[in-house]
Amino acid sequence: MKQHIYIKTWNGFSPSTSVKKNKLSDHYKKFYNEGNNEFSDNEQWLASKLSVAEDLVEILKPYKKILSLGCGRGVIEKSIIKKLDKDSSIHGIDPYIDVSSQFELGNLKIQKASVFDCQLPEYDIAYLNTVDYCLDDLEYSKICTRLFQLTKNGIIISQLMPPNINYLFSLKYRIGLFIKSLPISPYVFWGWHRSIDEHMNLLNNCGYTRFTFGYHKNNLIWLHAT
Ligand SMILES: C[S@@+](CC[C@H](N)C(=O)[O-])C[C@H]1O[C@@H](n2cnc3c(N)ncnc32)[C@H](O)[C@@H]1O
Repeated sequence: MKQHIYIKTWNGFSPSTSVKKNKLSDHYKKFYNEGNNEFSDNEQWLASKLSVAEDLVEILKPYKKILSLGCGRGVIEKSIIKKLDKDSSIHGIDPYIDVSSQFELGNLKIQKASVFDCQLPEYDIAYLNTVDYCLDDLEYSKICTRLFQLTKNGIIISQLMPPNINYLFSLKYRIGLFIKSLPISPYVFWGWHRSIDEHMNLLNNCGYTRFTFGYHKNNLIWLHAT
């Protein structure tokens, strides 16, 4: 059972209250098109990104051609690429970033692109860092099926936040969910947290059969599916 996430604002960004559950991408288009660079000065936010980047370096070290799906403006990729071998490369793609956020620097390329609409080469591995929660089951499945075809060693779904099952069944959660979903509520639907079993079931239907997982320093889970 998925946990539904609602927020009011995120680091000063107010998502549109008119966005429906099935159009979460509008949040990201609005976010990137409004500029919203201030949060990258937020030291705590940056420190958490750099810490996850360190974890990903260890996981990605054995691979050379790496794809980051939903890379945003490439904040973690800039840090990861510095610590990988010189012959490693990262290609970050995100369909919702603004064109001016694209760049190519040495072995790092950040591109406004969808995994479906560009001629992508084969990669050794792909990762999605905090992207899964903004994908509905259908989009998640389509993306991971495409990545199954594109990668030799599967995908890393990074920073999973599995819901607390007891909380999901609590009256507090159900009442809160009902109130936050009312049209007059200042809260905005922001995505889902899936259980690890839900992730594995979805990925299994995309062709992945082997799963290993580990913990980030912040105790969130990374899942490697091949
Ligand atoms: C929380 S941000 C994470 C950005 C980056 N991975 C990081 O860790 O800093 C979620 C990202 O997922 C991207 N995203 C949302 N839907 C997507 C989709 N269907 N395909 C690719 N990226 C998507 C958004 O544009 C956004 O940049």
